[in-house]
Amino acid sequence: STVYPFYGPHQAGITTPAQDRLHFASFDVGDISRDELIELLTDWTVAAARMTTGGSAGTYGPASGPYDAPPDDTGEALDLPASGLTITFGFGPSLFTTAAGVDRFGIASRRPAALVDLPHFQADALVEAQTGGDLCIQACSDDPQVAVHAIRNLSRIAFGRASIRWSQLGFGRTSSTSRSQVTPRNLFGFKDGTANVKSEDTKVVDEHIWANAADGAAWMAGGSYLVARRIRMTIETWDRTALREQENIIGRTKGEGEPLSGGTEFTEPNFAMKGRDDAPIIPVDSHVALSHPDQNDGAVLLRRGYNFVDGNDDLGRLNAGLFFIAFQRDPRTQFIPIQKRLAANDTMNEYVRHVGSGIFAVPAGVTKGSFVGAELFA
Ligand code: HEM
Repeated sequence: STVYPFYGPHQAGITTPAQDRLHFASFDVGDISRDELIELLTDWTVAAARMTTGGSAGTYGPASGPYDAPPDDTGEALDLPASGLTITFGFGPSLFTTAAGVDRFGIASRRPAALVDLPHFQADALVEAQTGGDLCIQACSDDPQVAVHAIRNLSRIAFGRASIRWSQLGFGRTSSTSRSQVTPRNLFGFKDGTANVKSEDTKVVDEHIWANAADGAAWMAGGSYLVARRIRMTIETWDRTALREQENIIGRTKGEGEPLSGGTEFTEPNFAMKGRDDAPIIPVDSHVALSHPDQNDGAVLLRRGYNFVDGNDDLGRLNAGLFFIAFQRDPRTQFIPIQKRLAANDTMNEYVRHVGSGIFAVPAGVTKGSFVGAELFA
């Protein structure tokens, strides 16, 4: 079973080859002091370091310790290996300044300029109960029970200090983040992650994914910005759409996943190539044409999303979609302009609806003996 190191220059769970499963949780922090917030982050760090090596959340474990106290681990992962567990922590805009402008923890002046409140995008249908949050935890593992165990124990540890605002389970990673992985498929049935930033492209990762001390907030050096979007996909309508239409919406073929301009999966798309009707073979309003770096001043994203199916609605339709997660150095020049263009023009919009949203500053990795985000409070 895979064990990814918890300590290091960057938090794990970003360039780590995407695991199969996700449990993502957003938290609201209660009425606590700055010192209590630091204590919470310290407790979370210690528990996360233990769980990512396959250990229990606490020192006693689920089946020992004081008989008259609740166990310091809930137990459902007791016989399970680490299963590639990574736990990634992030800080939302409201941790720095509340909606009322209150600086609860004395960190408002240290809010990075890149940690903007996301603007309203055309056709956004955001549900308040699935949006925002003071803190986030992304737990990824190849075993769903291990990911759920991590979130469950971290929220148990937070009791009285922070509570879950919303959470999302995901399966079937919708992106490959390493060339060692085959490209998975999203619920539209298309390969997803073909043109993604890959961890092997260290120059691209250094330039476009990791924040830099010179970017403004020195404490964020080696960190990254996470944007999450809960995107409902009306798959029943999609499934009644002709294959030609589906491929024109994506701009790639459904089988091999090569661009409609030809070649194989990893051939660069040729947006200038014209068809018999003298129109571009890759439609200008296709998803790939609109999101490609050539059309976005070179902006790229490290996408790390997951599929979800959360039961069904009253009409017997699956409550399904893509829990989109992207990491980047600066959302102001990466996610926001790309999503603006997609929201305005993407032919895929007929089949998707953004219902949840979050943005978080994910600080650099942790050094042994310290806690996640320590530089923010230094
Ligand atoms: C590429 C699907 C939402 C940004 C792709 C591809 C597919 C896809 C099939 C082509 C394969 C690949 O290169 O990965 C979807 C679906 C979405 C969705 C089903 C929603 C349910 C988004 C959002 C963004 C985004 C919200 C960012 C704002 C990108 C980018 C590429 C891409 C940057 C790579 C384009 C390139 O360089 O060729 N997506 N996507 N996608 N998507 Fe999405």
